[in-house]
Amino acid sequence: MLKLAIVLPTLNERDNIAPLVARIEDALGPEGWEAIFVDDDSKDGTADRIRELALGDPRLRVLQRIGRRGLASAAIEGFCATAAPFVAVMDADQQHDPKLLRDMLAAVEGGACDVAVASRFVEGGSAAGLSSATREKGSAMANRLARKLTGVTLTDPMSGYFLLRAEVARGLVPKLSGIGFKILLDLLATAEPPLRVKEFPLQFAARGAGESKLDRTVAFEFLVGLYEKTLGQVIPTRFALFGTVGAAGVAVHMATLWLTYRIFGEGFALSTAIAAFVAMSFNFWLNNWLTYRDQRLAGLKAIVSGWLGFCATCAVGALANVAVATLLQARGVHWVLAALAGILIASVWNYALSSKFVWGRYG
Ligand code: GDD
Ligand code: MN
Repeated sequence: MLKLAIVLPTLNERDNIAPLVARIEDALGPEGWEAIFVDDDSKDGTADRIRELALGDPRLRVLQRIGRRGLASAAIEGFCATAAPFVAVMDADQQHDPKLLRDMLAAVEGGACDVAVASRFVEGGSAAGLSSATREKGSAMANRLARKLTGVTLTDPMSGYFLLRAEVARGLVPKLSGIGFKILLDLLATAEPPLRVKEFPLQFAARGAGESKLDRTVAFEFLVGLYEKTLGQVIPTRFALFGTVGAAGVAVHMATLWLTYRIFGEGFALSTAIAAFVAMSFNFWLNNWLTYRDQRLAGLKAIVSGWLGFCATCAVGALANVAVATLLQARGVHWVLAALAGILIASVWNYALSSKFVWGRYG
């Protein structure tokens, strides 16, 4: 009988698949489990590698997602793609030891807890496999923040390795944010009444093949996720994001305008055009900085052409901005107010466009 589905999100993990499956089999025996790989269209042929193995092993399945990204949504889709009464989420890069699965399953099945979490910070565990000291510090800080904001008390709420009943997981799915990679934290913060947690010491191993995919985008998404679970009820996430980026853009615009118009004494129209261009470039940089590492424009040529494309798209808004600001200023409106009115007009255009760029992922 099928009992446990192990959901394994993958992004370029081709060479980890076969050894991982062997280790799972070693830990759980030949039957009672299936491995669902949720692959975000890895370029290294991970999905095909899984299919190749699955031809001779019906316990393996692959869900290849095209044009989609994200650890949390990958886990969610895994939960929804199985008949097994229990689901676990585990990294596919061999940093998580499958040997813990047996005890975790027994604890949830026996009713000792609702969620079994493999923790690096509980007695007997270790975070030695983390790639750097900065990474270790960042992880500890994120933990403290998460505890404060969600009230979830756990030594390792960032853990990407946990197990629970499939129907409990699926029952919570409609209320999850599905953003970023902190699916466990999301589940725990959402569940009402709270889920009972038991932690299992995990010796976080060094990665098998390949490299880590979690970078600043993920750190940023983590903050977005926390926001969504707290203040997000008051001010919608998407609006707050647009507002924050927008406010930064306005600050850049006003600072540039002040410099060119007030300090260097250039004409108001020219100064506004320069300010709009600088603010636009700043927004381009910010957007690019916040996109996934593998989609981020890098290299002089790609950056310059991306930048020009972005400016061209914003040109309509920028023109309206310069026209409105110049007109108002010529009619005697104070330069600061005129500039803000121009920005307001341009923002409407940019708000519509912004969905096409970075923020579409959080919509
Ligand atoms: N489908 C999919 N989509 N899979 C992804 C994505 C994605 O966008 N990003 C990463 N993965 C997969 C990787 O292929 C790997 O199997 C697993 O998710 C974890 O990604 P890593 O890139 O190996 O993460 P890490 O080792 O740096 O981070 C681990 O430690 C963190 C704590 O510091 C993970 O276990 C995190 O969940 C954990 O919070
Ligand atoms: Mn990893």
